[in-house]
Amino acid sequence: MSSNKNKTVLVAGGAGYIGTHTTVELINAGYDVVIADNLSNSDISAVRGVEQIVGRPVPFAQVDCCDIEALRREVFQKYSFDSVIHFAAYKAVGESVSEPLKYFRNNLDSLLNVMRLMKEFYVQNLVFSSSATVYLQPEELPATEQTPRQRANSPYGLTKQMSEDIIQDTVAAVPFFKAIALRYFNPIGAHPSALIGELPKGVPANLVPFITQTAAGIRKELSVFGDDYDTPDGSCQRDYIDVVDLARAHVVAVDRMVEGRSKERYEIFNIGTGVPVSVLELVNLFEKVNGVPVPHKIVDRRPGDVEKIWASTELANKELGWRAERDLGDTLRSAWAWEKHVRGLQ
Ligand code: NAD
Ligand code: WQD
Repeated sequence: MSSNKNKTVLVAGGAGYIGTHTTVELINAGYDVVIADNLSNSDISAVRGVEQIVGRPVPFAQVDCCDIEALRREVFQKYSFDSVIHFAAYKAVGESVSEPLKYFRNNLDSLLNVMRLMKEFYVQNLVFSSSATVYLQPEELPATEQTPRQRANSPYGLTKQMSEDIIQDTVAAVPFFKAIALRYFNPIGAHPSALIGELPKGVPANLVPFITQTAAGIRKELSVFGDDYDTPDGSCQRDYIDVVDLARAHVVAVDRMVEGRSKERYEIFNIGTGVPVSVLELVNLFEKVNGVPVPHKIVDRRPGDVEKIWASTELANKELGWRAERDLGDTLRSAWAWEKHVRGLQ
């Protein structure tokens, strides 16, 4: 197999928030990238932003991963690669509760098709976007990769658990397959260039896009969901991971498989900072580093929220040689710079 082939990665869902940042880091690390995305939750301008950052065109196929014929024809037959990073999924937890079949179909079919075609075309390495949501509320913190999963409380979370299981069993059955599932904690922030970032459609469900839109005056005020939790200031605690640090974790995961350094053919790593941060701490830090007010009020708890969770990052440090590097204040500056870029603000 040529070394050139080893260096090409298919990024499915690569026009999205994490996929664009990962594409940039892969190209910075010397990989070639092919993006496949149906643009169901993204815009082609995101790919243009990537191209502007890396200074060259990036092959892009507008294709639905649920359409196996199109995926075979437009991607697997056209390009040669031996690693796939699979981001292509829907991710709105609330919507998944009201439209479970939409989530089961898209998130599972797209993965099944990608793996079917990987088998057909002898593509060996898969990185999968999993989530800390598979743990729900752990009894002990920090959450390690051995922390028991609890049955998900949303169809979205269930698709992540089911996908992990599908990958585990398929890797066991196909001798040339290797896979790494990365369990992301809470990805936030944007590329330092402010040319790519998170672009939620409609009212943001996640905290940081809601904060930036409130700071920009698009939302009147942020609702802080609960201040009566068993945490230092009463608001929920999370592990907020910078999206560029998260993107780098994908590069080292691909490196590990391509270079034959995996210890098991299927491995799981938490990707977080290991540092708990509360909602109120995050809002205060955002206001401080950006010098902009974020009007907010305390409201009732949001149903389904976990009280507190943060990662043990020991395994990723030891095995991947990866750790989060970006300072949280800088991450929040990048989130605000991106929001201003999108809105045309100074
Ligand atoms: P995103 O919505 O920005 O990116 C997903 C991309 O996949 C989008 O560009 C969308 O158009 C595309 N897509 C969806 N279904 C597709 C299909 N059937 N065929 C082709 N393309 C399809 O989301 P993101 O935040 O970048 O998340 C990427 C992955 O990481 C998802 O699997 C998500 O579940 C997972 N994840 C995200 C978070 C988070 O908080 N952002 C946390 C944990 C895990
Ligand atoms: C963070 C904190 C809220 C909005 C979700 C998914 C999870 C994963 C990441 C994909 C919580 C509080 C939020 C607001 C608030 N995605 N909050 N006001 O809930 O940790 O995780 O995204 O896998 O699966 O469930 O992230 O950003 O929604 O919330 O007070 O308007 O901010 O209560 O404590 P969450 P989030």
